[in-house]
Amino acid sequence: MKETPRFDLPPALSTLAERHDWIYSFIFWVSVVLFVAITGAVVWFALRYRRSHHPKAVPTPHNMALELTWTFTPLLLLAFLFYKGMEGFLFGMVAPEDAVEIRATARQWKWTFHYPGGAESFDELIVPEGKPVKIVLYSEDVVHSFYIPEFRVKRDAVPGMYTTVWFQAKEQGEANLFCAEYCGAPDPKPGEEASNRGHSAMLATVKIVSQEKFQAFLEEGAKGGIPAKCKNAPNPEACWGLQIVKNQGCLTCHSTTGERIVGPTWKGLWGKKRTFSDGSSAVADENYIRESIVQPAAKIVQGYPPGMSPFSLKDEQIAAIIAYMKTLK
Ligand code: CUA
Repeated sequence: MKETPRFDLPPALSTLAERHDWIYSFIFWVSVVLFVAITGAVVWFALRYRRSHHPKAVPTPHNMALELTWTFTPLLLLAFLFYKGMEGFLFGMVAPEDAVEIRATARQWKWTFHYPGGAESFDELIVPEGKPVKIVLYSEDVVHSFYIPEFRVKRDAVPGMYTTVWFQAKEQGEANLFCAEYCGAPDPKPGEEASNRGHSAMLATVKIVSQEKFQAFLEEGAKGGIPAKCKNAPNPEACWGLQIVKNQGCLTCHSTTGERIVGPTWKGLWGKKRTFSDGSSAVADENYIRESIVQPAAKIVQGYPPGMSPFSLKDEQIAAIIAYMKTLK
């Protein structure tokens, strides 16, 4: 059942969102009522007791009933708000035991998702509808923040520690994952305005699918190897390599067209002689590319900043990337 979207909030697609929106609306409407009542009273008093009618002030005696009313009414209201807030906070903090656990890893400037059984995804976070999902967050570099407005969840991903967040999606559909903590951007090219890459492009789509589809996705991913959509490609391994580099976010910093972005381009890289910042050189072969992926700081190409963090990929994934690079003549 689709609900009519609210004018003031994104669609509510998780069970937490209902609680969240209820207390939000409650506070909003209490504020509206109090605003109107208090402003109305101020205006009414100002008119009723204006100087032309009441030139002489009359002292007001102590009024016990009034004192108690304006002490205990806000106290009860605040106690109620605290109770509802705490209840919602605890609900959002403690994931149910049967939650599906997905690891979300942040790095500049990409989200990576690891599912039970070994499936992985990158630009998309796949979650089942009607089942609790616990996200275990980690950052490989700086502080990022995992934010899905439609689920009303936001939590920092911090290097050196795990943080968690959970939600249960109510219906199939799509939501947006943002990075909500400024995490830098690549240096703009000379003569270019500050770029919209980096933090502001650190997005992913959340796909809420049926439980059967989610199960099928896990099973497909657990098999590993060349994905189905590359099996019939003219060069299946290179096709898979392209998927991997897209998914890993390599192309954020490395072009395949010869253009300089952050790191060296991959066009014509294979078999070429590379000169490094320490003056040494090597030919770009399997060993060089493998090393550049798993231990990027080992050799820095002359004229480029060091700054890539290591990627941990399986051997067959690295082989697929190499197969792809060979096609970039
Ligand atoms: Cu990652 Cu902002």
